[in-house]
Amino acid sequence: MSGTIADVSSTGGPSRLLGIGAYRPHRSVPNAEIVDAIDSTDEWIRSRSGITSRRFAGPDETIAMMSLAASRQALDDAGVAAADLDCVIVATISHLLQTPAVATAIAAELGATPAAAFDVSAACAGFCYGIAMAADMVRAGTARHVLVIGVEKLSEITDPTDRSTAFIFADGAGAAVVGPADEPGIGPVVWGSEGERFDFIRQDAYWPVDGFGAADDDPENSKPAHTLRMEGNPVFRWASFEMPKVAMRALEAAGVTVAELDAFVPHQANMRITDTMARQLKLPDHVAIARDIAEQGNTSSASVPLALRRLIDEGETRSGDLALLIGFGAGLAYAAQVVRVP
Ligand code: COA
Repeated sequence: MSGTIADVSSTGGPSRLLGIGAYRPHRSVPNAEIVDAIDSTDEWIRSRSGITSRRFAGPDETIAMMSLAASRQALDDAGVAAADLDCVIVATISHLLQTPAVATAIAAELGATPAAAFDVSAACAGFCYGIAMAADMVRAGTARHVLVIGVEKLSEITDPTDRSTAFIFADGAGAAVVGPADEPGIGPVVWGSEGERFDFIRQDAYWPVDGFGAADDDPENSKPAHTLRMEGNPVFRWASFEMPKVAMRALEAAGVTVAELDAFVPHQANMRITDTMARQLKLPDHVAIARDIAEQGNTSSASVPLALRRLIDEGETRSGDLALLIGFGAGLAYAAQVVRVP
């Protein structure tokens, strides 16, 4: 044996979120436009999910376009140049081209080349997975600045006649820049998966079985070839009662009490899930709770950064505040961490 391998860890250090960006598609779709195809009502959807309208992307609002818009805002917010990014992570389940990763195209379009770039498939937990990896990279010295994007165009893979998903899923993008900090601004992640519940939320078939998704839409019924399916009730119970335990563990891991928390930003799955989680966590009144879902719908991996951006824009949380993030969904996969608001 000869020579030694240098350890990168000596060059890393604490990390934090430096900036947050969001992109909301132009078209707002009220419940009235959804109800006929699923024999539902505006009242039923509002009371069961808290959703009054959602955003659906148009043909020009692609995964890459929405990601770029959110990323540029995040970079501006962070005061970081794209050329200073060392890695771009895109969390998504609705970029319908399996390879190459859309992250590479986004990195190039931003001017971040030759940043490392890859996609993550962890559904509604994807953004929090990405933040965890980015924090570890900065901590270890593998990267100095990492861009984490959560982006979805779920309207392309949702069956407009499916009563349990048609009113829930929507489109949008959020992004965060993670970089070095004087003291830790991203707490330890508590994450995991429960693959025994693999079937609770899933595509109904592999893309290539009889088409390639949205590109092969059948004009007869205007449904994509393969769509998302969900066991609504078990998912509701799992999220409402198991995820608060994960959130508590993330607070403990960060050494933060609920009393010290300023904001709670859960994945925007369903307003009733958010309400139940807030009750279970016994959040004090001063904690701002993200309720972006009401006018945005459930955007899977984009929902946490979109919701955090709205809380900041509406003055409900400020730079330096402590926010608890938690993502959960298909897999079933989940991840939670406490962060300082950029
Ligand atoms: N509109 C109107 N009525 C509907 C409906 C719809 N879209 N979907 C179901 N119903 C009816 C059912 O027919 C049933 O009627 P019945 O009592 O007369 O038989 C009743 O509502 C209850 O059906 P159920 O399937 O048990 O609904 P639910 O109470 O579980 O609510 C969800 C359905 C989807 C709102 C709920 O399960 C849920 O919020 N799940 C979690 C979804 C979620 O957040 N997923 C994202 C995770 S990332």
